Amino acid sequence: MSEILLISGSPTAPSKSAALLSYSADFLRERGITVKSVSVRDFPAEDLIQANYASPAFTEFKADIERVAAIVVATPIYKAAYTGSLKALLDILPQGALRGKTILPLATGGTHAHQLAIDYALKPVLAVLGASDIQQGVYIVDNQFQTLPGGFKLDAELQTRLDDSLERLYRTVEALDSNALSV
Ligand SMILES: Cc1cc2nc3c(=O)[nH]c(=O)nc-3n(C[C@H](O)[C@H](O)[C@H](O)COP(=O)(O)O)c2cc1C
Repeated sequence: MSEILLISGSPTAPSKSAALLSYSADFLRERGITVKSVSVRDFPAEDLIQANYASPAFTEFKADIERVAAIVVATPIYKAAYTGSLKALLDILPQGALRGKTILPLATGGTHAHQLAIDYALKPVLAVLGASDIQQGVYIVDNQFQTLPGGFKLDAELQTRLDDSLERLYRTVEALDSNALSV
């Protein structure tokens, strides 16, 4: 079964958007998918800020992107868009790096005011990197999370929405695998 890469664009921890990725990782692993998680926090800030394309810190990330069939990218909304750290990370990717990839975008925000940010801000960047199958994103507001000592709990309605999107992603990857086997 193909592998899925989860990318967290939150510079802070603990992180609600990263919690969505942990949930996604469990969901996908339960269905037999190999999952790898990376965060903007894993990369040297100087390499990100200075767009040090040649940094060895990015070599594995670029190889991960090349290898996987699909990517779940989660970001908090900062100033009506995705985070600057996520943009800095996406900027190091070569032209066409997301060609042929299926992408599920997720975002968390403090208010409903920016619930279209996935569509007007993040999707164009994913598209310019070559992604053609960008699935319908999930936007979640902070008050749909319950803060617990060890992290965050999602409310039931949100969990259903996220499950539906993850199930769609899983089915897409499963279909890609079956097509590859039958060629
Ligand atoms: C610098 C900064 C800017 C933010 N700007 C917005 C914004 O424009 N719109 C919004 O809905 N929420 C905004 N928020 C709230 C965060 O998007 C929200 O709390 C999010 O769930 C945090 O995700 P995280 O825990 O993964 O970092 C902002 C938060 C910060 C720290």
